[in-house]
Amino acid sequence: MLRPLLTKQQIAHRVGAMGKQITSDFAGQTVVLIGVLKGACLFLSDLAREIKLDATFDFIAVSSYGAARQSAGEVQLIKDVTTPLQNQNVILVEDILDTGLTISFLKKLFSARQPRALKIAALLDKPSRRQVQVEGDYVGFSIPDKFVVGYGLDFAERYRNLPDICILDPEESK
Ligand code: IMP
Ligand code: MG
Repeated sequence: MLRPLLTKQQIAHRVGAMGKQITSDFAGQTVVLIGVLKGACLFLSDLAREIKLDATFDFIAVSSYGAARQSAGEVQLIKDVTTPLQNQNVILVEDILDTGLTISFLKKLFSARQPRALKIAALLDKPSRRQVQVEGDYVGFSIPDKFVVGYGLDFAERYRNLPDICILDPEESK
């Protein structure tokens, strides 16, 4: 069963505000948005249109949970960017911060390329699940420890195309 948590209107409103914030923080500069496939795709495409700056984007892929709800605890880069990042304002765009393992891995990886700035934009945050100390610079919504799907987020690759973000009943995934 799917229970609505955030409607597409709420999401659009918040993404608009995040775009405004990024626009003013990087006024007069260029930014490179790096989306983490596949979950951040929808968020990146909406956020990019709310950023009124000279922007480019690129994508990376990391190992995912597969059909499991729990992270294996290890992150692997499956697809890298083709954009050189030295001296660039880089914004990592992620669907959700959960244990923090993915983002802390990516922060380490990309800071080694000497960007001018390295920021994290995450649509959702589950702070209660954190295993490593890491925070988003731009966070859409802080949510409780529930498994959510929709607006890019999946369970076993399904539900990414739902316009709203919904809580997936635990029974559903057994
Ligand atoms: P972390 O490394 O534990 O922070 O995990 C981040 C990744 O886990 C996200 O990019 C999502 O792909 C996935 N994830 C974490 N929580 C959820 C959820 O509630 N629904 C769907 N995917 C999730
Ligand atoms: Mg995912």
